[in-house]
Amino acid sequence: IDPEDARYLISRIRTIAGFPEKGINFRDIMPVFADQRGLSILMDALVASLPVAPDDFDAVAGLEARGFLFGPTLANRLDKGFIAVRKAGKLPPPVRSQSYALEYGTATVEIEESAIRVGERVLVVDDLIATGGSASAARDLVIACGGKVAGFSFVMELEGLAGIAKLGGYPASALLTMP
Ligand code: ADE
Repeated sequence: IDPEDARYLISRIRTIAGFPEKGINFRDIMPVFADQRGLSILMDALVASLPVAPDDFDAVAGLEARGFLFGPTLANRLDKGFIAVRKAGKLPPPVRSQSYALEYGTATVEIEESAIRVGERVLVVDDLIATGGSASAARDLVIACGGKVAGFSFVMELEGLAGIAKLGGYPASALLTMP
């Protein structure tokens, strides 16, 4: 990403100390989407910073909820389809489920089994990677459905949590590293 574009995106990201709980510096990406220039820069930078060539994957999978805000647009820009990785209980059966650890407790995500063809190569996207729990769960779901993970693309990576290092060595990129 061009440094000036990175500065602009960072200038739009709002940081809320102590949300949703004490000790968390919440990084709010919604003002980037609300801003015409921010949204254009974001989408162009994502397309330009893919961790794998477009010919090396077949579909984009996005994590609920913020991966849904740009995943389908990114997929469309690349002439791919979009696969939804949803919170448990939202998708009709048959689904695959995978639980993962949060700071407190666990969460579960699901994919419709029919959403992925055997051997399909999937790029997993989300707005932010912290510890990598939800992205790892998405990886496991893609594999459980017979797909292959081509790589991961994030807007923000939280510094110091080594989330990308925990994904298992797949190609991965983040536009911005946030302290
Ligand atoms: N998800 C996990 N950690 C987060 C953070 N610091 N800000 C926004 N979303 C998050």
